[in-house]
Amino acid sequence: MKNLIVANWKMNPNSQKEAKEIFDAIREGSRGLDVEVIVCPPAVYLYASIFGEGVVSMGAQNVYFEDKGAFTGEISVEMLKDLKVEYIIIGHSERRKYFGETDEIINKKIKKALEAGLKVIFCVGETQEEHDAGKKNEVLEKQIKIGLDGITDLANLNVAYEPVWAIGTGNNCGVEETKESLDFIRTLIGQVRVLYGGSVKSDNSGEYIKEAGANGLLVGGASLIAEEFIKIVKSAE
Ligand code: 13P
Repeated sequence: MKNLIVANWKMNPNSQKEAKEIFDAIREGSRGLDVEVIVCPPAVYLYASIFGEGVVSMGAQNVYFEDKGAFTGEISVEMLKDLKVEYIIIGHSERRKYFGETDEIINKKIKKALEAGLKVIFCVGETQEEHDAGKKNEVLEKQIKIGLDGITDLANLNVAYEPVWAIGTGNNCGVEETKESLDFIRTLIGQVRVLYGGSVKSDNSGEYIKEAGANGLLVGGASLIAEEFIKIVKSAE
């Protein structure tokens, strides 16, 4: 299976024009490479006329677990499928922290997305405090146990280990520690693709794939700079 490199643009950029420019450059730079490349823009840019088909797949940063109805501001799995979105990031630490998403909510979202045939990038990871208290494995175990409760078909599941303290800080997790966490996640879940995320740049990306055994990367800040992101994609070949 190919390595998976995912751009999580978060709430950036501020215009369709910029989104298209970054996306076009990523698509051209990714052409012909033996890597699966996914761009997850803000939902307002998730339409094929901006993104075009092929080479790079589209992913959403969020979804709601109900089918339709009176849920102001939310987006359903059917809406995403209609736009040809393939992947959804679920359980990102920013959704947990700023939008009150619990493991139980995350579980409902993962179930809904998988039932709809969408591919999921399920994010897990410990905070600085939990890390320093030696609770990393306990936290990962809880997030995974509740997040995947009742889910048996893991074919479309990918997991991203994103230590919260490594996100947007420049303090990326060391290779040894990352390897331990990825292996621990595999012992809990079995054979799914496990990605690393947290201050990934082109000068550290290759070591996560080659030394830590990650099956891909979830990239925030560096994914908004097409040239830098393409270097990261190439390092995963
Ligand atoms: P940074 O790459 O900016 O640290 O963000 C990581 C992340 O949260 C990706 O989902």
